[in-house]
Amino acid sequence: MKIYGIAATDDNLGIGFNDSLPWGFIKNDMDFFREITIGNPIIMGSNAINWLKGKPLPNRHNIVVSSQRRDVPDGFILCSCRNEVLDVASSLSVNGLAFVIGGAKTYKSFIDDMDGFYLSRVKGSYEANVFLEESLLDRFSKCFVIDDCIDVLFTIYEK
Ligand SMILES: NC(=O)c1ccc[n+]([C@@H]2O[C@H](COP(=O)([O-])OP(=O)(O)OC[C@H]3O[C@@H](n4cnc5c(N)ncnc54)[C@H](OP(=O)(O)O)[C@@H]3O)[C@@H](O)[C@H]2O)c1
Repeated sequence: MKIYGIAATDDNLGIGFNDSLPWGFIKNDMDFFREITIGNPIIMGSNAINWLKGKPLPNRHNIVVSSQRRDVPDGFILCSCRNEVLDVASSLSVNGLAFVIGGAKTYKSFIDDMDGFYLSRVKGSYEANVFLEESLLDRFSKCFVIDDCIDVLFTIYEK
């Protein structure tokens, strides 16, 4: 199975502000995220229950990793550790792909498992209190631009 991270940051690598995206809603980034992840297992940290407002993303296997939680809302699959996540994602993946969708702690904890990282660079600076750790991107040797739109630069990092 291949695992990719997928995140959006602003110019300062901000990814979150109070369990929301710092820039609010950007349609072409949401469309990109949906197109890339649809049909595949998506792996998320336990804070996702907050930032997804308790609602799983449709048409994807929503895998939540937590060492603390004993239950999750309907539609989420709870795993207690990295190895369990990898086993479950692998058994659910129909085309050999899974995506780590965040947040910051979860990108960090799965970085060594990732074959690549889709990074949407939202142009500008926004108020944020959660950031993507810059050194994580150093794990990848190549970066390609997929699309350069007026508000977002779509890139992919590969090993
Ligand atoms: N811009 C983007 O692309 C994007 C994407 C996603 C989220 N976000 C933002 O990111 C913020 C949340 O990020 P965050 O770093 O605070 O939280 P998070 O990564 O969503 O969740 C962290 C929690 O996940 C669990 N976890 C992660 N790795 C684990 C492992 N290997 N084993 C067991 N448990 C593990 C732990 O929960 P336990 O303490 O329960 O063990 C940990 O405290 C929000 O503001 C959200 O809006 C932004």
